[in-house]
Amino acid sequence: MSVREILKMGDPRLLRVAEPVRQFGAELDALIADMFDTMYAANGAGLAAPQIGVNLQLVIFGFKQNQRYPDAPQVPETVLINPLLTPLSEQQEEGFEGCLSVPGLRGSVPRWTSLRYEGVDQLQQPIRREVDGFHARVVQHEVDHLHGILYPMRIKDFSRFGYTAVMFPELDPDQDD
Ligand code: NI
Repeated sequence: MSVREILKMGDPRLLRVAEPVRQFGAELDALIADMFDTMYAANGAGLAAPQIGVNLQLVIFGFKQNQRYPDAPQVPETVLINPLLTPLSEQQEEGFEGCLSVPGLRGSVPRWTSLRYEGVDQLQQPIRREVDGFHARVVQHEVDHLHGILYPMRIKDFSRFGYTAVMFPELDPDQDD
């Protein structure tokens, strides 16, 4: 297991559409272990495989308490492969997001308030959950990475996009997300 380098915005590998995962087993398990090491080392709430240069439809997310989002409710630790998202209503809401590939910045992004996500885990067990709020936001952010979309590409109000240290000075300055 090892911490991998996280690609940063501007790297064309972050703009690709990811391929479905077809091969399950030890190699995939090792990749997922590296992704958790990498996410935890960066105090991330989630990580998508394309962020470490692996062009597969694989995301991980979850935390009990997150230093980067201290007010966020806990989200179960999840491995989600070949995901499908279905909004459960037309309603969207704005909320601030950061991204390990866009360090030091935060922006307000509109997301579906509630959605269903489906896919499989690394044991090919089906996952099907209906979620809302921050959980729904995290899933949408991570799955966007599988379509080559970074959160700044979804910002509508650029007056609510800026440096974390300026907009959220109460957050730990060592968390340079
Ligand atoms: Ni991200």
